Amino acid sequence: MKYLLAVVLLSCSPSKEKPRVIYMPDMVYTPAVKAQSEQAQVPPEGTVSQDYAPYAYSNDPDTAGKMLKNPLQPTAEVLARGQHVFSTYCTVCHGPKGEGDGTIVPKFPRPPSLQSDKIRTYTDGRIYHVIVSGQNLMPSYASQVAPLDRWALIHYIRVLQRAERPLKTDLPKE
Ligand code: HEC
Repeated sequence: MKYLLAVVLLSCSPSKEKPRVIYMPDMVYTPAVKAQSEQAQVPPEGTVSQDYAPYAYSNDPDTAGKMLKNPLQPTAEVLARGQHVFSTYCTVCHGPKGEGDGTIVPKFPRPPSLQSDKIRTYTDGRIYHVIVSGQNLMPSYASQVAPLDRWALIHYIRVLQRAERPLKTDLPKE
């Protein structure tokens, strides 16, 4: 009896927040890992982040052009998104209509026009490849522009091209 009383008294503490004797600690004492510590930074070998999609055509623009297909339809919503992404990342060099007259020119060398026959005949996949891999002076935009945004912006480039030089099918029938 004496012993039991001692235990009861011992476990009393002036503050409820800091009990002196903890009967079942549950998860009070977890091994804390600091976010900046090395242990927390290095992912296990061979893992990739959930949103990482490996790119299979790094050095093969022609195959990329043939194999990669635009998964999006050019709906109003997709085009609005494409316009937003284009004006955020591309206009500064390529200009609002893709003519190579962005505000950074001539501090940065003038890029070729996206209105050219060359880019008009590029497949969507081939343009996608330029966005992912960059091209000479143009850096890769893979880390800034997510995959679906790339496809949306390619649809928007087509809109720019057809606004300047419409296809027969874009024009009203006489
Ligand atoms: C820092 C300026 C800069 C930005 C930003 C930029 N580009 Fe470029 N882009 C260039 C230059 C310069 C070239 C020409 C590279 C070369 O000499 O082959 C080019 C080339 C291209 C080409 C190939 C043109 C051709 O005739 O070979 C495409 C397509 C293209 N860019 C699309 C884009 C898209 C889409 C974006 C936005 C995600 C973008 N670029 C952002 C500078 C830029």
